[in-house]
Amino acid sequence: IKRLTVPNLIKRKQAGEPLVTLTAYTAPMARLLDPHCELLLVGDSMGMALYGMDSTLGVTVDMIINHGRAVVRGSKRALVALDMPFGSFEASKQVAFTNAARMLSETGAQAVKLEGGKEMAETVRFLVERGIPVIGHVGLRPQSVHVIGGYAAQGRDEDAWEPIIEDAKAIEAAGAFATVVEGVAEPLAAKITESVNNVVIGIGASAACDGQILVTEDMLGLFDWAPRFVKHYASLGPTISDAVARYAEDVRARRFPSTDETYKMRRPKK
Ligand code: KIV
Ligand code: NA
Repeated sequence: IKRLTVPNLIKRKQAGEPLVTLTAYTAPMARLLDPHCELLLVGDSMGMALYGMDSTLGVTVDMIINHGRAVVRGSKRALVALDMPFGSFEASKQVAFTNAARMLSETGAQAVKLEGGKEMAETVRFLVERGIPVIGHVGLRPQSVHVIGGYAAQGRDEDAWEPIIEDAKAIEAAGAFATVVEGVAEPLAAKITESVNNVVIGIGASAACDGQILVTEDMLGLFDWAPRFVKHYASLGPTISDAVARYAEDVRARRFPSTDETYKMRRPKK
C-alpha cells in the first residue's frame, strides 16, 4: 500500500505528531489537499457543503460512494475515510457491515467513520474484527440534530461530561483507531484525549486533541457563514464572485473572447 495506513497514523499519534486532516468530496480538491493531509474524510457534511441540504440526514450510501471514488482517484498519499450516512449503520451491526463493506470495496477507501458512542460500540467491534477500520464520532453528532434540536456545543457544563467521556472510551475499547470529537469545550476535549489511547481528531474541540479536521469549504471561506470554530485561511467566496463579475462584464462588452481565445482557420493546403 502506497498510502498512509491505519498503523502509520497511530504511530504518528504516539510520536506526538499532530494529525492534519480535512474533508474532501471531489477529485480536484483531493488533489490539492493530498500533499498536506494525513487523512481525507468524505464527510456527510457534503449534504450541506455541496448539495445545499439543511442537514446531513439526506446523504445516502450511493452519494458517499460516488464522491469517495472521486477522492480516491484524486489522491495518492492520504488515508481516505468515508462517513457512514444516517440510516446506513444504526439498525444492526450486520446492516452496518454490509454497507461499510460495499463502501470500501466500491471506492478503494480504507476506513469508515460513524457517529455514536456506547450504543455503537458493539457495531464498531463487529466491523473492526471483520477487517474494516473504524473512526468514531462523539460530542456534537449532527445526524442527531432532531434529537438535540440544533448544533450547539456539547458538554459545556461539567455534569454533562461523563456520558461523552464514556462514549469515547467505549468506542476506543471496541477497536476504533480514531475518534472525532466535535463541538466541545477545551477542558472536556483535554479530558477525552487523556482518557483514550486512540487518535483523537477535533473539530470545534480545541487544540487539546491529537489532530484537527475542518470542512474544507468552510476553512477556504466559500460560504457567508461558518461556525465560530472555523478559521478562514482564504476567502474563496468573494474571489469567485469577483471573477464571475469580471467575466460577465467582459461578455456583455464583447471583450471576451478576444483573438487570444479564438480558433483560427488552417491555411489552405496547396
Ligand atoms: O461530515 C463531516 O465532514 C464530518 C467532519 C467534519 C468530522 O463529520
Ligand atoms: Na459527518
